[in-house]
Formats: sequence, C-alpha cells, structure tokens
Amino acid sequence: MNAATGHESYSARIQWLREDLNRHAHAYYVLDQPTIPDAEYDTLFTELQQLETKHPDLITADSPTQRVGGAPLPEFAQVQHDVPMLSINNGFSEDDIRAFDRRVSEGLEQSGEVEYACELKFDGLAINLRYVDGVLEQAATRGDGSAGEDVTANIRTIHSIPLRLRTEHPPKILDVRGEVLMFKADFARLNQRQRDAGLKEFANPRNAAAGSLRQLDSRITAQRSLRFFAYGIGHLDGAALPDTHSALLDWYSELGIAVCDERAVVRGADGLLKFFTDIGTRRAALAYDIDGLVYKVNRVQQQQALGFVSRAPRFAVAHKFPAEEATTTVLDINVQVGRTGAITPVARLAPVSVGGVTVTNATLHNEDEVRRKDIRIGDSVIVRRAGDVIPEVVAFVPERRPADAKEFLMPTTCPVCGSVIIRPEDEAVARCSGGWLKCAAQRKGGLQHFVSRRAMDIEGLGEQLIEQLVDRGLVTTPADFYKLGLVALSELERMAEKSAQNVIDALTVSKSTTLPRFIYALGTRHFGTLDALMAASEEEMLAVEDVGPVVAQSILSFLHDPLNRELIEQLRAAGVHWDESAVERQSQHLNGKTFVLTGTLPNLKRDEAQAMIEAAGGKVSGSVSKKTSYVVAGEEAGSKLAKAEELGVPVLDEEALLQLLENPT
Ligand code: IVH
Repeated sequence: MNAATGHESYSARIQWLREDLNRHAHAYYVLDQPTIPDAEYDTLFTELQQLETKHPDLITADSPTQRVGGAPLPEFAQVQHDVPMLSINNGFSEDDIRAFDRRVSEGLEQSGEVEYACELKFDGLAINLRYVDGVLEQAATRGDGSAGEDVTANIRTIHSIPLRLRTEHPPKILDVRGEVLMFKADFARLNQRQRDAGLKEFANPRNAAAGSLRQLDSRITAQRSLRFFAYGIGHLDGAALPDTHSALLDWYSELGIAVCDERAVVRGADGLLKFFTDIGTRRAALAYDIDGLVYKVNRVQQQQALGFVSRAPRFAVAHKFPAEEATTTVLDINVQVGRTGAITPVARLAPVSVGGVTVTNATLHNEDEVRRKDIRIGDSVIVRRAGDVIPEVVAFVPERRPADAKEFLMPTTCPVCGSVIIRPEDEAVARCSGGWLKCAAQRKGGLQHFVSRRAMDIEGLGEQLIEQLVDRGLVTTPADFYKLGLVALSELERMAEKSAQNVIDALTVSKSTTLPRFIYALGTRHFGTLDALMAASEEEMLAVEDVGPVVAQSILSFLHDPLNRELIEQLRAAGVHWDESAVERQSQHLNGKTFVLTGTLPNLKRDEAQAMIEAAGGKVSGSVSKKTSYVVAGEEAGSKLAKAEELGVPVLDEEALLQLLENPT
C-alpha cells in the first residue's frame, strides 16, 4: 500500500482486503480449491482487523472479521417462517421408489419418463438463511416447520455461508434452505479435543452439529468447523425463480452459496435407482455422513402441479439407507477372550435391528472405554454398525438411565480357564495369563488362526471342528493337527469318511509352505530365515532394517519361550518345511507404496499387517501425508483417519488390505 494517510485510502484498502479475503474464503470453503496458503490469508486478515480497529466507523456487518459476534445470548428468539419448512416422505426399497415414480407420472398425466434432480440427504440440521438485498440478515432452524429459532450469530461463523451474495443485482428477499452439518474429519478432531479436555464426546457428527449450532455463545460455535449445503428455497422476491431445481442449485453456486457436487439429473425410476447404486459405492468415502438420497421432480412447474399432501410435497421422496444406529438396552456386560488372550468387554443387548442386521452383542473395546463412555448394565444405549464393521456401543442415553443401573467390574480371572488376568501398565488391553496350554479360548483362537487362509491354509478345518478337537483333547498345539489319523477324525460329529480324508489331504499339502506363512501362522512377525532367527541376539535383530527395539523384544520373548521353540521343532519334525529362498521370490507388487496403520483391525495384529505389507514390498510409516498411498483403518481409528480423509488418501479396511496384498494389479 502507498503511504496514504487519508480516510479515503484506508476505506479503499479495507474494501480491497474484504473482497480479496472473501474471494479466497469462497475458493477454500465453497469450491474446495484453495488459492493462497493459510499464512497469507491470516496476514491479510490481520491487516484488515487492525485497520478496522483504528477506524471502527468503517466496519460493516458483512466484513469477514464480523463472523464471530460478541457476548453470548440469553436465549434464542423465535422466528416465524414465511413459507413453512416441510418434511419429506421416506422410501426404503426399490419398490417404494418405483411406486413414487408411478405416482408422479400419473399425477402429471405424463407418458414419457419424468426428469428428476437427485441429491444427497445430508445428516445434519435444516436451516433457513434470509438474504435481504444480498446481505445475510437472519438464519433460523426448522423448529416445528412453521417457527424455529434465530441462530443468526452462530450461522455467521460458518465460512461456506456467504455474508453477502456474489452478485451486483441481488434479489430483494431470498430464503435459502439447506443443511448445516459437520464433516467426519472435523468431528474426529472435535472429539479428540473433547477427550483431551476430559469433556464428554459427541455420539455422531449430527449431534455434534446440533450441539454446536445451539450454543448461545457464538465464539464456541466458531471453533466447531460447521459446513453448509443448500438444497431448497423459501421466499423469493425481486428475481425470477429458475425453471428447474438443478438450475436453482447452479444459481446458488454462482451466488457463492455452497451446494454439493454429488448431484445428478436423471430420467425415470431406473435413473433414480442407478444414482442410488452409484452413491452406495462411494458413500463410505464421502467426507460427511448421509442417511439417504433425495429425489425431486426437476421442473418447477411440474412440482407446483403436483403440490402437497399434509406436510410433505408429492414431488419429492427421501430414499433412506437402513439406519446405522439404533437404541436398545444393555442386558449385561461380560468379557470375551481372544486368541492372544486379550480380554474384551462385550455388551449383551436386547436384540435390535441396525443397518438391516439383528444385533445382540456389541464390543466395548476395553476397560477404559467402558469407564470413559460410562456404560452401565441396564442403560439405554446407542449402538452403531456402519458397513461391515463390528457393532459398537457409542453412548448411553442419560435421560433414560435407571436408578439401579449397575457398573461393570472387570473380572480378575479368565472366565474360560481361571488364570489371572493381567493388565500391564501403560496398556489398554488386559490379557489372560493362561497362554495356549491352559486357556481353551486362546487355544481355539490360535488354532483357528494357524489353519486360516493366509496362514497354513488348511481347508476343511472349520471353527466347529476345532472346537470338537480341543474339547476332546485331541489337539492342544498346532503340531497335533499333523498327528490326526483318519479314524479319529471320522469319529467326530458331522464328519463323513470322505471329508475326514479331505482334511488329512489338506494337512499333507499344507506341510509344504513358505516362511512368511509359517511365521504368520505362529502369530509372530516375519523375519529372515528361521534358524538365524532362533539363534539371533537382540543386537543382531536390531541390525536388521526396520526392526525396532519393541519388535525385536517381542520376537525374542516369543522365541525364548521353550514351549514355542518346542512347537516349532515339532512342526518341523511333522514335515512342515519351506524353501528358505521363497521370501525373496515373493511378489513385490507393493513396491513404492507407503501405508499408515491406525486403529485396531478385526483379525490382524498391527505387526502382522506390517509384516505382510513389507513382505509384498510396501513400506509402513507412522504419519499420514500427501505421499501416503493408503491408510489402513480399524476400530477406534482417530486423528490419522481424519487426516487421510482431509487429504483424500484412500482408506482401506482389513478386507481391502488383504485383497490388495493378494492381487498384484
Ligand atoms: S428437501 C420440500 N433436500 O431432510 C422438501 N431435505 O426433509 C424439503 N434433508 O429435516 C426438504 N438433505 O433437513 C431436502 N437434499 C435434501 C436434504 C434434506 C437433508 C433433511 C432436511 C429435513 C429432512 C426432511
């Protein structure tokens, strides 16, 4: 800026800064295409703030500095909606959608296929934004549809909502309708902050958005990263209403109002159902939650011709996904013993349908989680089952806690073998100290792992067969599998001689294996040649690339256990063998790919997953960046998952990782 000192030139500079900042904010928040680094934006913003402090008479309500207001409100004022905010009828099945299309066609007396605008059903809160002469004047919640709450101060903090429309000729009055929501990554960060501060976490992004918008202190809302997508219109005065719904959304986009890119114009029921399938495949990868899709007759004239029944339009329908959350009662909390002895508290629930499946158990992960979420026996709880993830208890419903709700006590001994349960300091997981030999739960789990497809791959040795073998004392260690005879096997329940022979054959075939499979089957980490490994000292192990002290320690303690050494000897004596050079010959198709592991995977332990990735040529790193090829996320994935979503790094679950390892594409 020149060395100008007059009021005039300050005013011009302020004006310029506002326009420039608004342009960058629009590019960042609405178009998702940042134009300058954050630091530069901050510098410009600070300059504007300083000029405005010196010249308060030049401050206007639509200045980017005015998004966060002053003192908290005593309460929200009521706002009467000019045009009521309606609800929408739901459909769940293909039949429901075909029936909707038929009703529309009949209502319009149209023979050809009807044109529809398809969009997402955002899982947030409906809002009405009133722009008067292009300036945001008032924002109100839907409330009961006829009147809502004045949340203007909070709405002003949302950057994807312009304080002034980007047009020279704004309408006199424009009521923009849409949804306020919180992106998944912002939700993960918010809950992380809540956890760090010892505050209660939000159950889901929708609750977090609602809680943030209903703050009387807009300074709190400003810290909550809310977003907005427009999807409808209320009152309009001083401009022509576009002919179609899709044109309305295009117009909003020109005005600088955020609309979602995931939309399409289609024809007929088949077009609607194709959009449903398309979005279904991408749903998990979206940056925000949706609970379905919304289909609207595209032509406004046809919308008006169809009109309304009671409080919902005839021209629109919500195609809902099965709910991923449901409320039910905790009948009991007890523990499960895993293959590594890990003790997992599990809530036994009154049966409830979640995501189309009846759920009776849900994991509580570990003791700390039970305490942190304060889940008690007798509580009403929210249960979530997203995609193929195991059901989990999200939160209890405080208003419905019975007076006699009982706290969960972690048992001190293993419910399966009676051995002491030990929880090492600094660890979240408690384990049964019985080990393989004493604890049948660990034995069964370990044996199942040993025969599994990625381990020794012994077909025909299913869960129930292993149960019987263990219960009858026929198998204690994996080496015992190779001692099984045809007679003993055929005597088991549901075992014909033919299937017994198949098991024997599969066992014989499995003896010829590879070192990585063998080591993986034992449940420890991949490592050079076995003889060298058994003889290695800690120092020698540390000399091997990528082996840190923790990994070296775990391998050493595994191999120092005489029982483990004996097991390896027995298996080799039974004929299990491999070509030592097989390691080098393995496909290296993940060469150049970097992975980050986060959360707990359903079956693989973290070091197992790491070993498998490395065996295929990939690298495993500790932090997510733009260069990360994949993030592998399990239960309780936190900030790394959020970061991946933010950077657009593909996220894999365990199943997808295994597929990637299997298929060199
Ligand atoms: S249209 C006249 N479109 O769903 C139809 N609603 O409507 C008015 N919702 O609470 C609603 N995404 O907040 C419409 N793309 C979308 C939507 C949407 C989410 C919500 C809305 C309302 C509920 C029922």
